[in-house]
Amino acid sequence: MSKSVKEQMQEMKEESLSCEDCEKLVRTRTQVVFGAGNPESSLVFVGEAPGENEDIQGKPFVGRAGQLLDEILKETGLLRDEIWITNIVKCRPTKLNESTGRLSNRAPLVGEIKNCQKWLEPELSLIDPTVIVCLGGPASSAIIHKGFKMTQERGQWFTDTIYAPFVIAAYHPAYVLRMHGASFDKSRQLLVDDIAAAKQKAIDEKGQPKMTLF
Ligand code: URA
Repeated sequence: MSKSVKEQMQEMKEESLSCEDCEKLVRTRTQVVFGAGNPESSLVFVGEAPGENEDIQGKPFVGRAGQLLDEILKETGLLRDEIWITNIVKCRPTKLNESTGRLSNRAPLVGEIKNCQKWLEPELSLIDPTVIVCLGGPASSAIIHKGFKMTQERGQWFTDTIYAPFVIAAYHPAYVLRMHGASFDKSRQLLVDDIAAAKQKAIDEKGQPKMTLF
């Protein structure tokens, strides 16, 4: 009997846990943070890379940005268990903060994003989602097109990627958290709107070939 998507994803995850392709990341990571949720979902969220909390807990989006994402998922009527959440890079990129002597987060390097496609591509291809929401610029550049401009291109539908028939870019929750006052409210609302549009698209496209339920 052929293996279920859940079983295949579990195998892929287990294999990824011993990946040592990025020398710098291997040195400081606690663990690889693979995607989580329902691998049979038609709706997938892709972020940048794990931060400190994700590195410790081994799950994507469990820190402050993840709490905001959870809040917004709830507002749009989505549950983590019915979607898939992952990152373009699966180990926490860090730099040494000279003044505190502690590690802080940094953006993933181009080479790290490239190396990690080894996991992202089969992961997305196994799920075969109808809709992908790219959270932030790096995920959008990796999935939609190089040099993606969040200010000009967020909230639009892209139908020509290899990863899913419908892809949309939304603000990263960590970006929203850096805003204050009216800017916070405005960017938070745009994130809500983009996630609600993604949910609606997944519902509207239900019944199309290859669709699975949430
Ligand atoms: N930011 C991300 O892009 N991914 C996470 O998993 C957490 C924070």
